[in-house]
Amino acid sequence: MDKLEIEGGIRLKGEVSISGAKNAALPIMVASILASGESTVDRVPELVDVKTMGKLLGHLGADFRYSSGKAVIGTDRINNHVAPYELVKTMRASVLVLGPLLARRGSAKVSLPGGCAIGARPINLHLMGLKKMGAAIELDRGYVTARSDGLKGAVIYFDIPTVTGTENLLMAASLARGVTVLENAAREPEVVDLANALNSMGARISGAGESVIEIEGVDALRPLKYKIIPDRVETATFMIVAGTTGGEVLIRECRPEHNDALITKLEEAGLTIERGEDRIRVIGPDRPVARDIKTMPYPGFPTDMQAQFMALMSTAQGTSVIRETIFENRFMHVAELKRMGADIDIEGGVATVRGVPSLKGADVMATDLRASASLIVAGLAAQGKTTIHRLYHLDRGYERIEKKLEGLGASVRRMQKDA
Ligand code: EPZ
Repeated sequence: MDKLEIEGGIRLKGEVSISGAKNAALPIMVASILASGESTVDRVPELVDVKTMGKLLGHLGADFRYSSGKAVIGTDRINNHVAPYELVKTMRASVLVLGPLLARRGSAKVSLPGGCAIGARPINLHLMGLKKMGAAIELDRGYVTARSDGLKGAVIYFDIPTVTGTENLLMAASLARGVTVLENAAREPEVVDLANALNSMGARISGAGESVIEIEGVDALRPLKYKIIPDRVETATFMIVAGTTGGEVLIRECRPEHNDALITKLEEAGLTIERGEDRIRVIGPDRPVARDIKTMPYPGFPTDMQAQFMALMSTAQGTSVIRETIFENRFMHVAELKRMGADIDIEGGVATVRGVPSLKGADVMATDLRASASLIVAGLAAQGKTTIHRLYHLDRGYERIEKKLEGLGASVRRMQKDA
């Protein structure tokens, strides 16, 4: 398994461009199933998860091709409705094919995603919504089997504003008979991007980005031609990297308005942040000031930025209280940060981070995607060498991050398989 070696203590300086958003690319590539023909999606990041989604679409009968940021998906032949365990177990977002397969073919058989490192990750709300639209749902031997002889519009209330649940129902409702209303829907920018992509195919969706979304079903959709939004979590990671190393970084091709909650917290922590139309300049302080955060559904502080923010707080002046309210087990990076000298206690979903003057490099283990980013942030700031093991977690969600960090002056080396 690959590992990453980082020599810390360097103030990062320079410019970095943000790649397309993983969590927009995945649902929008799946949306191509809803139409017959050839769809193209631009600014698709080169990630393991994108390759996995391509394999899954191919398994369903689509013709999937990817090169330098463009995904081309031929969907004349969607002749299989089974998303197998081998593929779903490596990527939970595979569950996104449920709604589109039902809408396109009237049947879907998708392996239950099962839990992952950060939590149980149930899909009960996805299934509740599809049932309300008239689908017959069965759970059998680890698979969800769904059938429908024509989905119909319904009013669906989500107990929790689930991101992929909202996305699954958006896609299913686009081809349903009648009007569907999603209440307490997720408001993430990736949900809005999917709705914009579906509308470019001829769907009739209004209210995306708000808590109530209305979808008027249509008879057919045309293939997709769409460029996705930049990745706000990658943007956040580079802002925080500037903060922990006391550097100065210009982040290009991003959408500052997608990071309002984080930018507010980083400014309170002492970073200087200048926002442009599609760029952000970040100047890190000599030492950040501790701030409390509580993760919330968008537009609150994103759970996907909690681990990286904790790395910043590890060397802040003062004590930071970090509340994780979205996932039940998203503190796996804490034990690794403590190996580097961080002073952190956990009680339930609350981590208390007492800032220390500096961290020390160590061998650490990546446990999940955003925890890996947190360890990179810590390693860049720490004194000495940090080696991050199990790098495949990182490759799922960050495109060529070591190249981008080298471009900012970091001393980072990827060591191939147990070299
Ligand atoms: C999406 O996951 C993202 N993944 C996650 O990003 C992100 O952390 C999460 O939203 C929250 O913002 C993609 O978009 C591919 P949820 P998702 O359904 O949709 C509970 C990353 O690092 N819930 O919004 O799976 C659930 O257990 C990944 O890129 C139910 O109880 O998250 C969780 O506690 C990690 N029943 C909460 O809701 C359901 O049917 C939010 O989950 C669905 C969800």
